[in-house]
Amino acid sequence: MGVINLKQLLESQTLQRAPFPVPVGWYFIDYSENLKPGEMRNINVFDQEWVLFRSESGEKVGVTDPYCPHLGAHIGHGGKVCGDNVRCPFHHWEYDTQGWCKSIPYAKVMPPITKKAPILRTLPTVEKYGMIWSWYHPLCEAPTWELPYIPELEDKTGYAGNRRGSWTANTCIQEIAENGVDVAHLKFLHNAPMIPPVEATYDGAKMVLNIGKGYIVGHTYAGGLNVMRFTQTDPVSGKAITATMISYSVPLTHDKTQMNMSFRHVDFPAGSPELAFTKKQIDHMIGAAEGEESAGFESVDFIVWNNKRYRPNPLLCDGDGPIFPFRKWFSQFYVNADLSKL
Ligand code: FES
Ligand SMILES: [Fe+2]
Repeated sequence: MGVINLKQLLESQTLQRAPFPVPVGWYFIDYSENLKPGEMRNINVFDQEWVLFRSESGEKVGVTDPYCPHLGAHIGHGGKVCGDNVRCPFHHWEYDTQGWCKSIPYAKVMPPITKKAPILRTLPTVEKYGMIWSWYHPLCEAPTWELPYIPELEDKTGYAGNRRGSWTANTCIQEIAENGVDVAHLKFLHNAPMIPPVEATYDGAKMVLNIGKGYIVGHTYAGGLNVMRFTQTDPVSGKAITATMISYSVPLTHDKTQMNMSFRHVDFPAGSPELAFTKKQIDHMIGAAEGEESAGFESVDFIVWNNKRYRPNPLLCDGDGPIFPFRKWFSQFYVNADLSKL
């Protein structure tokens, strides 16, 4: 019997499921079509409640803190969209999508601060890919990078596919993103025929993954956007065909994540063997496609994510993927926001 190593044996008692704050970045809020002109509703993301609204013209979208800077009423309970602004129910102060106070109907003189700065916290918000995106930074710092061009979602022609889905995982985004570099689990959890080689490169908020020498090429932008292109040769046509999985997860809380995904492919003619092949590629990504052993994320990853704990000091072996470089890259998205010093 070897020497007992209590630190090794008892460490799991100190582990948390997700010992991280919400990471900085751009996050999916909803599909644009789900928010009509003049609509307002309360949403829960980033560990708190927010008020989401669209201007009456339809052109502007705002995500605001719910509590009115006047006397603290919750704008999303009884409030209303008025033109480009959202109006608090209590005394009808109005705020635009940037958080500026635009009207106090009974004030002869607006409080001076309202001329100088926004008084209500809002999140920088854009619409892209037919979706609403907000930038989360715990100390309200401005975006440091832009959402990339994604041809599969933005080009008017050339691509098709309307499959999309949402799943909730009881873990943080970092744990989900770590799957990409954890190539050993592809064989043992997903039943891939081998552990594929992986190369990861890092450039600011972006990580590029090449798994299986071009079989999967992934572009990851912080925690909120991940574009994975799967390229395989169709045995019938002999052509290399690429299908794309775009995932856009949003932290509901620091330890609960909503995963959202769209699946797109080249717009092959109806009835063509290429279309049949690429549809099978997409079935494969989501769960085991008919007649094959390998299992996509839906059927197996959640079993692990929903129940694991984060090990800050994992015991890795030589066959593991580049877990530590990934974690170092991801750590740039955590900001220690100590509000007691404001
Ligand atoms: S509390 Fe919102 S207007 Fe007074
Ligand atoms: Fe996985």
